[in-house]
Amino acid sequence: MAVKEYVLKALEENKGTSLSGEALAEQMGVSRAAVHKAIKALREEGYQIEAVTNKGYSLAPDSDMLSAQGIAAHLDRQYANLPLHVYKTVDSTNNVAKKLALEGSEHGTAVLAFHQSHGKGRLGRTFISPANTGIYMSVLLKPLFDMSQSVLITTAASVAVTRAIEKICGLTPQIKWVNDIYVNGKKICGILTEAITSFETGQIEYLIVGIGINCSTREFPEDLLQVAGALEGEFSKNQLAAEVLNQLLPLMDHIEDRTFISDYKSHSMVIGKTVQVHKGGYSTETPGRQARVLDIDENGGLEVLYSTGERETLSTGEISIRL
Ligand code: BTN
Repeated sequence: MAVKEYVLKALEENKGTSLSGEALAEQMGVSRAAVHKAIKALREEGYQIEAVTNKGYSLAPDSDMLSAQGIAAHLDRQYANLPLHVYKTVDSTNNVAKKLALEGSEHGTAVLAFHQSHGKGRLGRTFISPANTGIYMSVLLKPLFDMSQSVLITTAASVAVTRAIEKICGLTPQIKWVNDIYVNGKKICGILTEAITSFETGQIEYLIVGIGINCSTREFPEDLLQVAGALEGEFSKNQLAAEVLNQLLPLMDHIEDRTFISDYKSHSMVIGKTVQVHKGGYSTETPGRQARVLDIDENGGLEVLYSTGERETLSTGEISIRL
């Protein structure tokens, strides 16, 4: 590990506590000048590192820059060696994760960015991703299911994010089918799952679960102002990102158990409500079909009763609801 990465890891693991430059240098077998150089480089990148005479260096307790070291400090032990890639800016973390998948990266690899220039939303939309205000993260999964189970994966991912937000932010999120997460009536997270399938077997070779969480985002375009919001509050983005991984990965390992469906249902904001069903995705031109949501089935499908009396279980598409 390079000196800069080692120093950042030590600082993140001991946030708010001073670490002696001499001790750090000794642990790594490098000179104190090398430690000093690493601290200077980290400060230039924006880390708030304080130096106290005779005590050493400490990372400000409220420092909240996403970093592989900062995330790793909060990962459960079994995920300690997960490959984490954190970039300043990318077009889309899903695109980077896809590239890594094709290069042979392992199950669980996570790609994060401070900013996305072309963040992708569902159904061809854009996901607004301003710098340093959100968590833009894609997780590479190599599961062995076929495409018919893809809605389950998205469902499980929504539950993982919901659990992580509850634990780290102390909030009570709700899920709008299929995978939008709301807090206080505003959408604060969207999930875009993309798959690379094998032509021969029809099985998913790689799955990219892209998660966008608005942490302090305020710059929304006019048309999203009514719907979009942010988590706000005092929490660490690194800790929340780590907790999403801690929650998501075990769910993916036992997806067939469907143990998360009950949690998904208890957080649903649509069961029992009247909604508009937009099979090809929401558009202002097409009003959608009015229906009442009866339930969510064991595969994450949405059971609806149309006003015409017809019933249907949806596994794709979109619904809108008046809040
Ligand atoms: C939606 O709400 O329509 C889904 C939004 C998904 C956004 C995330 S941000 C990280 C990942 N990279 C992308 O380009 N999109 C997903």
